[in-house]
Amino acid sequence: MLKDKKIVVGVTGGIAIYKVVDLVSKLRKQGAEVRVMMTEHATKFVTPLLFQEISGHKVASTMWSGNDEFNVEHIALAEWADLFLVAPATANILAKMACGLADDLVSTVLLAAKKPVIVCPAMNTGMLENIATQSNLQTLKKRGVTVLDPEAGPLACGVTGAGRLPEVPTILAFLEGFFAQREGDMRGLKVMVSAAGTREPIDPVRFVGNRSSGKMGYAIARSASLRGAQVTLISGPSALTPPPNVTTIQVETTQQMLDACAKSYPEVDVVVMAAAVADYRPRDVATQKIKKQNEDALTVVMDKNPDILKTLGAEKTHQFLVGFAAETQNLLANAREKVQKKHLDMIVANDVTMAGAGFNADTNVVKFLYADGQVEELAKMSKDEVARELLDRVLARRKH
Ligand code: PMT
Repeated sequence: MLKDKKIVVGVTGGIAIYKVVDLVSKLRKQGAEVRVMMTEHATKFVTPLLFQEISGHKVASTMWSGNDEFNVEHIALAEWADLFLVAPATANILAKMACGLADDLVSTVLLAAKKPVIVCPAMNTGMLENIATQSNLQTLKKRGVTVLDPEAGPLACGVTGAGRLPEVPTILAFLEGFFAQREGDMRGLKVMVSAAGTREPIDPVRFVGNRSSGKMGYAIARSASLRGAQVTLISGPSALTPPPNVTTIQVETTQQMLDACAKSYPEVDVVVMAAAVADYRPRDVATQKIKKQNEDALTVVMDKNPDILKTLGAEKTHQFLVGFAAETQNLLANAREKVQKKHLDMIVANDVTMAGAGFNADTNVVKFLYADGQVEELAKMSKDEVARELLDRVLARRKH
């Protein structure tokens, strides 16, 4: 989402500037074009030369510098940008913005800006909590400025509290989400994705589970979010970090996954069930750890679990329903049967016996089957690529 975006970064005088140096570098690596403008106070923390080297362009810091790049610099910068990002945003610049002051280059450019403005406040907790700063932030929000809330933690002034500039990956994810919500081809859509395997307890320390890592489902959730969808990820236990800008609900058992899915289902437009759901659960869950017996065998009686996808299929109103089929034999026949029985619009069939496919792999080898009987075979590709291909088909086939 950040490729070719023109971003003016307004740097004001706060200790968190060191993070913004890295931020500018990362923005450029992601293909954004960045111009930096600095307040005079900011130049006391780092010299414009550093930002000039990192951004690849002269830095604007005064109205009177005669910078060749832009004519009537403040107006030109204001018109050039797709987005203005003020980071770190001091209490001083927030106050100036709220009052409409234009007494230096940064405040003047921001006053002339017609494109979206995001501010990232970073300051001492007392300054942040001061009623004047809070009121300025409210004023700016009401006028359409987006505020990335500061985080809590130890601050440079020795205080622990709110006021830290979020880490660079958090700011980048926020920017990606910001552009995705405005420009992504899935904006306005609500997507529910399930991922990873469910676990059924046997006793307090043991469970029946499977080898699903969550990689496939997390890739779909991430990809849908990057395309602007509002994503709810319902995940069984997984070692993966949930993607940013996604509402993640952690569950363990099939019943918990069913409950979470059923709750979100009426509101969503698209459902992708990539989770490996346990078909059976132990009938009796021991309250204490089961001790080793003298007998050579231990019998665990299992009861059938509800079929989440079948339940959703039976209650389908407007949702586009995508299932997965993990098969070790008769891939197409079994997948076709699932499309029919579960009232699916589409199923992703993976032959999990193939190298580089299925459980825990970084790649997958899949076939797309549709309710009308059509079949599409895809080459081996990364799970991120499978996710993109899948969402392309969902968009093309979904009835509006
Ligand atoms: O997580 P990874 O390591 O990346 O692995 C990805 C994956 C192999 C788990 C994934 O690509 C996949 O194939 N997921 C579905 C696995 C599966 O359980 O398939 P199934 O054929 O048993 O179930 C068919 C469909 O019904 C699935 O969408 C499943 O989520 C759903 N189901 C199954 C049983 C059940 N009780 N309720 C369900 O909703």
